[in-house]
Order: sequence, then C-alpha cells, then structure tokens
Amino acid sequence: MFGENALRDRSTVLIVDDDRTVRGLLQRALHLAGYRTAVAADGYEALATLATFEQPITAVVTDAIMPGLAGTALVEEAHARGLDLGIRFYLMSGNMDVIARWGNRASGFHAAFTKPFDIGHVVRQLDEDLAPPPGAEPDVQANGIGWLARALAQHDSGTGAHSNLVTRYTAVLARAMAVPDDIAVDIADAAALHDVGKIGVPEAILNKPGPLDAAEVAVMRGHGEIGYSILSREPHRLAGLAAQIARHHHDRFDGSGYTPLAGFAIPLPARIVAVADIYDALRSARPYKPALSHEEAAACLLVGDGRTDPSHFDPDVLTAFRSALPEFQRIVRYGPGTDETTTTDHKECG
Ligand SMILES: [Fe+2]
Repeated sequence: MFGENALRDRSTVLIVDDDRTVRGLLQRALHLAGYRTAVAADGYEALATLATFEQPITAVVTDAIMPGLAGTALVEEAHARGLDLGIRFYLMSGNMDVIARWGNRASGFHAAFTKPFDIGHVVRQLDEDLAPPPGAEPDVQANGIGWLARALAQHDSGTGAHSNLVTRYTAVLARAMAVPDDIAVDIADAAALHDVGKIGVPEAILNKPGPLDAAEVAVMRGHGEIGYSILSREPHRLAGLAAQIARHHHDRFDGSGYTPLAGFAIPLPARIVAVADIYDALRSARPYKPALSHEEAAACLLVGDGRTDPSHFDPDVLTAFRSALPEFQRIVRYGPGTDETTTTDHKECG
C-alpha cells in the first residue's frame, strides 16, 4: 500500500556483498518493498558509503566473508569510527559456523540470514525491525534536522563535511564518557546543527579568504545566538538539545568563550561538541591555513599552543578525548578540505 511505502521510504538499506548477483537480487527485492538502497562490494567501501551517503542509512545487510574488510569486522570498525549510529546490522553467510560465531547481538548483529536465503524472509525481517510502530507519525524531528543541515550546507559550502565529522567525533567522545548509547546518538544528531546559525551570517563573511576584521568577527560570533533562536522555538526535545549546543559550543571552560558561562554551567553536550568542533577545525584546510595531522591537532587540544589551550575545555571531555585518540585517528575524512592529502607538516595550531 502507498501509505506503508511512504513511511518505509525513510529507510535506506546498505547491501554489502562481493557477489554482484546477490547485491542485485537484494536490491531488486528491497526496491519492490519500498526501500531505498545503497550497495558496496566490501567492508571498506561500506564504511566510505556510511560516511558519505546523502540519505541516512538505517540498516546494513552484509556478507560475512569478503576480500578486503570482512562483514564480520564491519560492525566493530563502523562503531570505532562513529558510523553505526542508529543503524541495525545484519549478517549473511552460507557457513553455519560463521553464523553461529558472529551472527548475534554480542557481535553487534541484529540478526543473521543463512545463504541461500529466502528473499521474502529477509524483507519481512527488515519490515518488522525498521517499520515505525502502527500509527506512528513520520519522524519530524529527524527530518527537520536533515532539512536544516542541508540548508546550511547550501549557504556555506564547507559546513556539510564539517558537520558530518563533528557528529561522528561527538559520538565517539560521548561513548568514551560512558554516556548511554541512545543519548549519545541524540547528542551526535543534534551536533549536526551546531553551526546552523551561520545561515544568518552573510556569505561574504563566511567565505572571505583572509582573516576577518573586528566588525566581521562580531557578526560571525553571532552565529551561536542565531542558531539558538532558530532551534529553541521548536518544541521537540532534540531541537532543544541542538539549541543548547548551537548557543554554547564556543563557550570555554575557563569562561573566555562566546557567552559568559564557564565550567560545568556550560551544558555537557556543548562541552563535548566544543572538543569535536575544534579538533575538526584543526584537521581541516582553510584558505588561510593548512590542515594539521591527527597528532598535531591532538597536541593542540591536550598541550596547547598559546592559542588553543586545554583550559578552554572540560577536563573530563579531554580525558575522554585522550582515551579515544585511536578512534579519532581511524575516522577517515572525506570531502573538500578534509582530504588526508591536504595534511602537512605545519606545526602551528592556529
Ligand atoms: Fe561554530
């Protein structure tokens, strides 16, 4: 029925298999059932797709054994890179030992399908797991966040990739701080809108190739309040969280940030996003500065360089950052200004 498919249309399923015939078979069946699909031929391609696909992916159905990164290792790798938020993983294999060993919740898989599979069974299982409860409204909150993030990306070309990465770094940090997974997902989703107030900043200032003058800096600093005023009028819980983050992500723990708040008076989600945001800014090339390597950016946050200083950040978040350094390093950066090849040996943090 049209109604059912309209709701299902939110669900994009990533099919991962090195066998083109299996990919095609699953893709056709899922399209007919009203799903969107993306495909990848191995685990590494799947990770790249999870990081860059234009629609939120809600499920991954992966073959177990493939050249490159195996499906059995995909969940762990996606988790380490902050790419598994809100996604259900399903394993496929013709090997019963593999299914018994890996195809369970303890290994990060929601369910497993034995090959050769009954395609109807696969679709029914996804329907059952992914369909909203009967009578549920479409997810207005999640849709609204997506619209706003895309509107901002149109206005400020560098923001799309930045927001995506800040979302993932935020998820990694929140988990390292032992924030429960469902709350970590909410904070990470809300972090996507941390710079939404830049919609109210003229493009001439956003895209100015050189340093900003004092008046322009004042306009730019207004993006926190503009973001807050956009988001705080929405009654949804997630919008409230995003509003806090938008207003306070440039606050500093020592009180020298955009608003007068200091220390633990700054909302915790904003304290987490502050570290994610600065790390990504340091790792990104700008017209006036090259990108730093992971090690250089980490040193700026943890040791300081006279401009970025550890006193700006919540010490608990910095502790989490230190413990999550391997995960940060594993997050592959895609897109303009984020390419690994733009990294140089430049030693200054500014
Ligand atoms: Fe910002």
